[in-house]
Amino acid sequence: MNVLHAGRLVKTKEDYKVVQLGLDYVEEVVELQERVHKDMVHKSWFVRDSADEIEAMLKNGGALFGVLNKNNEMIASRYISTPGDSEHNLAHDVNLPIDLDQVVVLESTVVHPDYRGNRLQGITLDVAMKHAENKGFRHLFCTVSPQNIYSLYNIMSGGLKIRSLKKKYATTDRDGVWRFILHKDILIQDMSWLKRLEISFDDLDLQKILINKGFYGDAVSRRANTIVYAR
Ligand SMILES: CC(C)(COP(=O)(O)OP(=O)(O)OC[C@H]1O[C@@H](n2cnc3c(N)ncnc32)[C@H](O)[C@@H]1OP(=O)(O)O)[C@@H](O)C(=O)NCCC(=O)NCCS
Repeated sequence: MNVLHAGRLVKTKEDYKVVQLGLDYVEEVVELQERVHKDMVHKSWFVRDSADEIEAMLKNGGALFGVLNKNNEMIASRYISTPGDSEHNLAHDVNLPIDLDQVVVLESTVVHPDYRGNRLQGITLDVAMKHAENKGFRHLFCTVSPQNIYSLYNIMSGGLKIRSLKKKYATTDRDGVWRFILHKDILIQDMSWLKRLEISFDDLDLQKILINKGFYGDAVSRRANTIVYAR
């Protein structure tokens, strides 16, 4: 097993490791996602993928990362995809000139409820970003529910910026759920801006207006429940 990162959990001081996993771990990931989803109060914050969908992503250039505790049980997972010119490429949802073949999509992340608060989402994000960079990809994308402050905070701390707000993941019985589309250009560390505005987290209408005027979401404050938009 290829260990990409190892450490000690902040809360329980238990040793953990982050490993890259193959197709034979997909079922375990699906089980962990089911476990996490069962407990969620706001189910629309997290749209699950089927085992077939995850397998297809992994066979098509994606990668799966798992966090294992000292008993080698999976306590968190994250997978990424390389959608190329398919309709799933989130570059289609933003107004930026992007080579579709340079895109990695950060797909789902979950942390087992008993292991929350150890920054495992941020840790697997760092691992996935390093992986994408080593493989020569330039752009990272992901979606986050505008209400999911925990995930939004972690993703934006990794340098991803809000570029769009729209409904995604429509099915026959649902016209989609609201999602921020976030983006990071691995080659650009600092983004310049002339104007900054701090907006209430709940004011999605104003955020949509600002995005349409060319602003991007730059940072989120979990304490003040605000997002800073810049242009
Ligand atoms: C989003 C998620 C991955 C974050 O987990 P994490 O990496 O353990 O979160 P953090 O370590 O950053 O937690 C920071 C704080 O928020 C709390 N927190 C994190 N997720 C929380 C949640 N869903 N509900 C309530 N509190 C939560 C932590 O307990 C911690 O509190 P503390 O500082 O008082 O100890 C996790 O909540 C989760 O699996 N959610 C369900 C699936 C999901 O939404 N995935 C993201 C979209 S794909």
